Amino acid sequence: MKEYDDTSPGTLALPWGAWIGCLAHDAKDVVKTTASQSLLERLGEKGVRNLFRIALEIAWRHAFSALYTVWLRTLGARVGRKVHFYGPMRLIGDPRRVTIGDECLIHRGVRLWTHDYGPGHGEIVLGRRVMLLTDVTINSFVRVTVGDFTAFGDGCYVQDNDHGTEPGTPMMLQPSHGAPIEIGRDVWLGARCIVLKGVTVGDGTVVGAAGVVVKSLPAGVVAVGMPARPVKHRGGEPLSRAA
Ligand SMILES: CC(C)(COP(=O)(O)OP(=O)(O)OC[C@H]1O[C@@H](n2cnc3c(N)ncnc32)[C@H](O)[C@@H]1OP(=O)(O)O)[C@@H](O)C(=O)NCCC(=O)NCCS
Repeated sequence: MKEYDDTSPGTLALPWGAWIGCLAHDAKDVVKTTASQSLLERLGEKGVRNLFRIALEIAWRHAFSALYTVWLRTLGARVGRKVHFYGPMRLIGDPRRVTIGDECLIHRGVRLWTHDYGPGHGEIVLGRRVMLLTDVTINSFVRVTVGDFTAFGDGCYVQDNDHGTEPGTPMMLQPSHGAPIEIGRDVWLGARCIVLKGVTVGDGTVVGAAGVVVKSLPAGVVAVGMPARPVKHRGGEPLSRAA
């Protein structure tokens, strides 16, 4: 396969070449384009089609988000301004217990689940610009709050409650009990993290993919594993030296 040529004179230099390459999907369609060619010629047929597809996707997402926001507000959820929905999500329980802050990005398959029975009722509060990638679930019996700019990788699962586990009675028949979860501002949870009841995740902390948070994490650290434990500060300094 030919390579991009970003050095020879008269040849498109990256990142333009790379951008156009992305639009055409296949680098061999766009190599050896010269500065004198029109944009359409440089893009090629495939590139134009992709550009069109991307524009259509963006337009569709804006239209869908606007309508979906109205629908969720009609159900009683508090949904801020300019929230982007990349597809339908599921609100299970009482939508009035869900707050989605301004400019959040909510991907397909997200589930926000409150329990509208029993002594706890659940409440989910997402701050501004929170990003929930595909298939994130937040299940609240008490309260889950998420700070501004926090991102959840695909498939993260947050649950602030447990079934009772006393022996002698089926666990499904025992009342749930829980404790609030507070996830700070500018936190990044890698794909498939699990966060359990009663924990706080400090501002600016990273939890590595598949981490299980069962104890509170301080601010500004990278935590990994099951259970998730801080291994370093975000700047890279190991915790033992940084403390
Ligand atoms: C947590 C993460 C950001 C750390 O990246 P990093 O700063 O480059 O950290 P390092 O690779 O130096 O890892 C530090 C230590 O943690 C371990 N570690 C890193 N990620 C881990 C994980 N997910 N689970 C268990 N251990 C992990 C490393 O093995 C290393 O251990 P060591 O010091 O004993 O060798 C990254 O590993 C990660 O999990 N990213 C998530 C990606 C993702 O899910 N993206 C989804 C899209 S939002």
